[in-house]
Amino acid sequence: MARPLPDILRIEWPANAPEPSPRTEEALDRGVAILRRGGLVAIPTETVYGLAADALDEEAVAGIFRAKGRPASNPLIVHVADEAMARSLAGEWPAAAAAIAARLWPGPVTVVVPRSAPVPDIVTAGGSTVALRCPAHPLTRRLIAKAGTPLAAPSANRSEGLSPTTAHHVLESLGNRIDLILDGGPCLRGIESTVIDCTVSPPRILRPGPLSRGRLEEAVGGPVAWPADAAHAAGSPARSPGQQVRHYAPKTSLETPADPVCRIGQLIAAGTRVGWLTTRADDSDVRGLAASRELVIVPMPDDPEAFAARLYATLHALDQRGLDRIVVDPPPEDEAWRAVKDRLTRAASGAQEARSASDG
Ligand code: TXA
Ligand code: MG
Repeated sequence: MARPLPDILRIEWPANAPEPSPRTEEALDRGVAILRRGGLVAIPTETVYGLAADALDEEAVAGIFRAKGRPASNPLIVHVADEAMARSLAGEWPAAAAAIAARLWPGPVTVVVPRSAPVPDIVTAGGSTVALRCPAHPLTRRLIAKAGTPLAAPSANRSEGLSPTTAHHVLESLGNRIDLILDGGPCLRGIESTVIDCTVSPPRILRPGPLSRGRLEEAVGGPVAWPADAAHAAGSPARSPGQQVRHYAPKTSLETPADPVCRIGQLIAAGTRVGWLTTRADDSDVRGLAASRELVIVPMPDDPEAFAARLYATLHALDQRGLDRIVVDPPPEDEAWRAVKDRLTRAASGAQEARSASDG
């Protein structure tokens, strides 16, 4: 039997109000009631929307995997209201995790630490570690505190799709597969949290994200490794099972050619309808192409944080336009662009697979 579409409840905490409005409290209470009976609630965070269930309820967490179509081998991030809740889920609390919690939480960084007994296997994909994050969105922390339980929450999209940065994106992707959407407005960061493995020394980034390696090194007071460095040095197996290359892909095929102006000229000449994300919209060679009816130019900021904040929302919007191709200027070879580059590489490789699948 088809389920109805979920309610979308707006939640707000105006800047100078001491408490959220009664309507917001009611919405949070609805969320808590659903979570207590093992249901699924989409929640806003500063990075992307999450699809939450009670992390300690195995059945509820199984519902997340079903709704997303997510492989059971991909473990989930557990969201906590504060460091104390995080420690209750950790078998050990490494110094690096303590430093990150003290200096960067609440915020867009997830620590991987040894797990404790109450964390069900389904959350960790049977592994001995658990990923923990305290999100910056104050109403999501309030929801977790009210629920009195940590929330397992992957990004609220069907597996391998683009992460949602608005409540509307969640509705489009998961629709009647979930029980409620709490709409806390657009996500400020716009890409998924930095994931850092704190069980190794030096700690190692598993997924680049909004917080740079420099910020993490400052917080832990020592070096932090990139995945390739440490894997190479230790000859160790891949530690972030969710990091398959194909991930975060829009439906429209995406590429990041070295010479976008030239490439777009070719695509247009072949009658391909192109959406182009460019930081150089004002350049004369770009303006020269702008008259083409086959081309939608989306000017993007040349600051990596601002670019990340808009990236998924822009890709979602272009997906709606039924274009043939999305072209993105290749980001600069600079650490500050590492997270954006990572997401674009994945998006392009997903598209490439889709292209060859439909070709063949
Ligand atoms: O910003 C975010 O992190 C968002 C919001 C909702 O908090 N969540 C998110 O979740 O991006 P998800 O499931 O889409 O990505 C979780 C990532 C995956 O790459 C997964 O493999 C990794 O974290 N992960 C989870 N548990 C892990 C563990 N124990 N060890 C290593 N990697 C882990
Ligand atoms: Mg995801």
